[in-house]
Amino acid sequence: MERILSAIKPTGKLTLGNYIGALSHFKDFQDQGESFIFIADLHALTLPIEPEDLRNNSRDIAAFYLASGLDPKKTTMFLQSSVSAHAELNAIVQNYLYMGELKRMTQFKDKCSKMADTAIGMGIFAYPVLMAADILLYEATEVPVGEDQAQHVELCRDLVRRFNHRYGEILKMPKAVVPKVGARIMSLTDPSKKMSKSDQKGDIFLLDDPKTMRKKIMSAKTDMGPTVTDDPVGKPGIHNLLNIYASLDGTTIEEAAKRFEGFRYGEFKKAVADKLDEVMIPFRARYDQIIADKSYIEVLRQGAERAREVANKTLRKVQEAVGLLLI
Ligand code: TYM
Repeated sequence: MERILSAIKPTGKLTLGNYIGALSHFKDFQDQGESFIFIADLHALTLPIEPEDLRNNSRDIAAFYLASGLDPKKTTMFLQSSVSAHAELNAIVQNYLYMGELKRMTQFKDKCSKMADTAIGMGIFAYPVLMAADILLYEATEVPVGEDQAQHVELCRDLVRRFNHRYGEILKMPKAVVPKVGARIMSLTDPSKKMSKSDQKGDIFLLDDPKTMRKKIMSAKTDMGPTVTDDPVGKPGIHNLLNIYASLDGTTIEEAAKRFEGFRYGEFKKAVADKLDEVMIPFRARYDQIIADKSYIEVLRQGAERAREVANKTLRKVQEAVGLLLI
């Protein structure tokens, strides 16, 4: 049976990129096997964050998970920090990944290339180690993520090979599952940059009101030429909007491009904004309800219990394999 695992880090306001690249797919995996979806709160500490923001962002993600259709009967939902095995396995597996490998990670380079060594915390550097521990604890076979996280899953695969070569078949080999459409949503103001949680005008946040979302879509950067055609290199702005539309509509880019071929940009953007309303307004209403009734609290509590059971079993296996005395 497949084991599915993924997570979102509560560092800032969730974006449409997070929704399209990851969150919206999680529910599709629920019936394929046992699924574990958590809030990566320890990862959020790798960059400075106010305690109150971390708490609020974590609650938001829990509510977003439920609002997106995750069913606690099928998916184990929990906070990473509620399961101490993450930190314990991290302490072991960090010895099987190397500085050179971690330095090559694109995300690390993007975030830290302009920072002095004295300003870069150990946590952000060693981030993929903890992420590998997250994945390995649940013996995940499939890890649904957007494109930017695929490299970290690859590194985890290297770790599994190395570790199993040394100790036998102890760790399960995971693989990244990247969606065919929408794996990399770009900024609306600069389609050469990824849409990310750091507050920018080009990002759509899941908690933006419908009017703001529409305004952002209508003022998205477009390209030369008056009408829609799909050209990822020559028309990256239009390509990004087609990607957004296709993902929300559950269709392909080619289908979407055919549908809007020859449309003027204004008309096309209006159709994208309408589609966004269609998906986001009911999603937001479910989120509001869950935040108000606080039903996520019990879900996270029970999820943590189940997660601990599974995680502690793997941790024990690893501790034994490397020679720690279990008495
Ligand atoms: P995070 O919180 O940065 O992002 C959460 C998910 O959203 C995807 N994503 C995007 N997809 C498409 N377009 C975008 N512009 C975009 N921006 C973000 C990400 O690829 C991700 O799937 N390290 C992870 C959290 C994590 C994790 C794990 C994931 C911790 N442990 C174990 C999987 C398995 C992160 O920071 O994601």
